[in-house]
Amino acid sequence: MLVEIRPAARLRGKNAVDLTAALAPVFGALTTETDDAGPVTDLSRLRVVADWVQYRNNFRTPVELRPVVGGGPPELALDLRGISGTGADAVTSGAAAALRAHHSGGAGSRHLTLEEWGPTRDSAIWAFNSLYWQHLQLWEEATGQGYESALPGGQSDARHLEPVRATIGKLFAIWDSLADRRALPEELYVVELGVGNGNQAGTWLDTFVEMDRAHGREYYRRLHYLMCDYSPHVLELARATVCDHTEHVSSFVLDAQRPLTSLAFLRFKVFFVYISNVYDNLPTDEIATIGQREHLVEARAYLPDTDATAIAAGLGIEPETLGALVQKLLRLGPPLLAEAYPQHFADVPAAVQFWRECWQALKLQERYVPLHGLDTYEIAPGISGELLRPLLATGGDVRMHVSNGAATSFAETLPLLHPYGRLQCHDIVVTDPHQYRSGFRGPGKYDGSVVNWVNGPLLAHIGARKGFDVSFAPFRRNGSNIITMTADVRD
Ligand SMILES: C[S@@+](CC[C@H](N)C(=O)[O-])C[C@H]1O[C@@H](n2cnc3c(N)ncnc32)[C@H](O)[C@@H]1O
Repeated sequence: MLVEIRPAARLRGKNAVDLTAALAPVFGALTTETDDAGPVTDLSRLRVVADWVQYRNNFRTPVELRPVVGGGPPELALDLRGISGTGADAVTSGAAAALRAHHSGGAGSRHLTLEEWGPTRDSAIWAFNSLYWQHLQLWEEATGQGYESALPGGQSDARHLEPVRATIGKLFAIWDSLADRRALPEELYVVELGVGNGNQAGTWLDTFVEMDRAHGREYYRRLHYLMCDYSPHVLELARATVCDHTEHVSSFVLDAQRPLTSLAFLRFKVFFVYISNVYDNLPTDEIATIGQREHLVEARAYLPDTDATAIAAGLGIEPETLGALVQKLLRLGPPLLAEAYPQHFADVPAAVQFWRECWQALKLQERYVPLHGLDTYEIAPGISGELLRPLLATGGDVRMHVSNGAATSFAETLPLLHPYGRLQCHDIVVTDPHQYRSGFRGPGKYDGSVVNWVNGPLLAHIGARKGFDVSFAPFRRNGSNIITMTADVRD
């Protein structure tokens, strides 16, 4: 049996996890001979992988079994945090049930599955994610909490003034030097992707005005700040936040993964692209090497049996019809759902309540599908999976995010940059592939949205191929996980 304990930092120190106590019930279940289906698995081939899932809300159960399609040995996945907080008996029976279900070929059949197996980037969790941003206000009204309170540090790092001032100072220096050579275009473009409530844009523009006044070269007069988001609703909120700058701000409804659809007219013209806490919110797959062979992680969203039964009972419907109602929710959104099904929802808040209950209960089953060569896998349009090879070949098995959405967005945004332009991103970013071996990097649930760490080395490779230097620096705030990623045209 192969046992992999990933959260190395949790194994020592004041808050160390009691590994023996946590794992004993699991090994108890594994080694017990039972009359029915056990010992259910060939222990000589079983892999046990333990993570510490730091997100209080996430898509995992404390013990789950992940099959390998094609008959490879399965993986027993443990969330050490989850099993430490659960009674030993419950863990033992959970592990035994997972193994038994696998053995009988009926893994998870009692759950209400919401979709077919597929790459995680195509999962319904992303439809939930998008629903959240399309109807942010309804969610925030129901919880009484703004989305920023869920971000690391309780607010967006975009609002810290010192880095904003540094960024604008650098822009001024570039513009001064271009202006001195009569090479500065009349229009000065800045693009922000994924603007949220517009607080970052507001801070940035206010600071710009103040610094421009002191600098004295009237750059504000020439500034165009383009706020972009795929949620018209979010853009409306952001527009209200920056109402003091209306003449200098335009807003675009666009998918951050396809900026050129609306912004192609800005090719080579943008001096600064800013992206904060967005890449971690874009769809991603995960790839795992198991026994030196690459596998794609496939996922399937489901509602656990007990939750599905409770939610259905609350609506007075049969659990079997719940799946169709969830699909309707994802397609229509809460206001139209309430209108279309008044027999189930008295008003819009009732539909929002249904949405929140489903999101709270939502889990992902996972399985591994062998890949027949990395070149058969596409990271982003025109970017082959081969680019992952150097990251995967760093010694031993590893499972990592592909950050497909971030990679697509990044690759499609770079062509917008002026030769002296810069792309800057604040986010939770893995900067060394080894970090995938020592910590859980998502997915987690923030309020109604999905979060995954971003595969920084992969983005750096993509940037390098397109002629950009990509660098990473910790964000200057104590205790922050946030990384500043910067892409500049290579000299
Ligand atoms: C966590 S918020 C971050 C907002 C802001 N940048 C900040 O740091 O506070 C993520 C933002 O990205 C937007 N977003 C998510 N996926 C997107 C996509 N595919 N295209 C465009 N915007 C997207 C959401 O609507 C939301 O405004």
